[in-house]
Amino acid sequence: MTGHRQRAQLAREAAHLAPGASEETAFGQRVFARGRGTVLTDLDGNDYLDFAAGTLTQSLGHCHPEVVDALTAQAARLWNVHDAATEGRDELLALLARLLPDHLDTYALFSTGAEAVEAALRVVQATAPPGRNRLAALRHGFHGKTMGARMLVHWDIGHQAFAGNSVLGYAPHCYRCPLALEYPSCGVRCAALVRAHIAEKPNVSALVFEPVPGAGGVIVPPPGYWEQIADACRDHGVLLVADEVLTGGGRTGSFLACEALGIEPDLVVLSKGMANGFPFAVLAGRADLLRSPAAAGAGSYASTYASNPLGIAAARATLGVIERDRLTERVRELGALLGERLRALHARYEQLGDVRGMGLLFGLEFVTDGHSRSPAPGIARAVHTTALDLGLRTAVGGHIIRLAPPFTLDEGELDDGVRILADAIERATS
Ligand SMILES: Cc1ncc(COP(=O)(O)O)c(C=O)c1O
Repeated sequence: MTGHRQRAQLAREAAHLAPGASEETAFGQRVFARGRGTVLTDLDGNDYLDFAAGTLTQSLGHCHPEVVDALTAQAARLWNVHDAATEGRDELLALLARLLPDHLDTYALFSTGAEAVEAALRVVQATAPPGRNRLAALRHGFHGKTMGARMLVHWDIGHQAFAGNSVLGYAPHCYRCPLALEYPSCGVRCAALVRAHIAEKPNVSALVFEPVPGAGGVIVPPPGYWEQIADACRDHGVLLVADEVLTGGGRTGSFLACEALGIEPDLVVLSKGMANGFPFAVLAGRADLLRSPAAAGAGSYASTYASNPLGIAAARATLGVIERDRLTERVRELGALLGERLRALHARYEQLGDVRGMGLLFGLEFVTDGHSRSPAPGIARAVHTTALDLGLRTAVGGHIIRLAPPFTLDEGELDDGVRILADAIERATS
């Protein structure tokens, strides 16, 4: 339950704060005071295991000491000189070049996911051959709330988009197959239809996609899905723009989810895991695209907070720890363990209709019953709020709960979190 100091602050805020917060914030009604590692503490002194890692951002846990030191030192030195080079930017660029596939060797630095998605769309538009004036996107994809990104999102995120001109393809949503087929006898027909779409539409310049659609429910593609689509894009001159804002930085067990799924993207957008929750984003890409004179005119990649020294300091520290401590390997180990525990819960509760995951990113889909598979947002909400009361923070949206704990989680915390989750599901479904 929300303690009295928190209730008093929330009541004071309500006089001036615009509504429209995320579901988890609106349902949770908490005021957080501090965080350390996996543990968050609220204003009344209650602790929570944070299996949502901030906004699925704090890969190293809250206030990782090396990131705090880097930010503190930078905060005492220099904050903003537009997008000018500052000390250490060269080292961050070299670090990115080591962590990313060799062909993605050119980078532009921004502050939020949507800002970098917009920059990617500008590069696509600037470099597209004449007549290629449409973009392809996937159903269930999420790319941000600025207008260009928002036009590629074709599901209800709480407000309407302007009409876009994007061509839609099927996401690999096996649990809710739009073609009413079953894997593997389906032969991954959804991918064949996306291929056909790409082949039929000569005016498409790029497919903008999440390799594992995240906000749409952590939709893990079956083998064969991306291979077919990536080949079709190559064959028809359609650029592959991977939105790895959520999945990039090791979250799915390799630095890019694209690497594990056999996709060779032309442009990649990264943000959440880059600077451990500090606002920072990277547009990575092929040199010929990002350096093309059409895309790289004066000011093309500049903005007030582009190349911000604080973001660079936080990213250098975060990515340095991920590289040094080989944390993507740890993500695979912990992800296997968490997956095992969550599948045991799936077997126990009919209303936990599906559990999907890759690395340390999981989606739990709640339904009224296993037969109809009707979405049950009321159950997801009850699980989320009950878990919070019991000391576990998750991310909730509609009938889906997402889990994305820090890579620095230990096995004891993992077991404690799953025990609380099981307790919350038991209470919410009985
Ligand atoms: C895949 C993906 N793309 C883009 C965004 C937008 O990022 P931001 O909220 O930093 O603008 C998000 C945010 O959740 C995301 O998950």
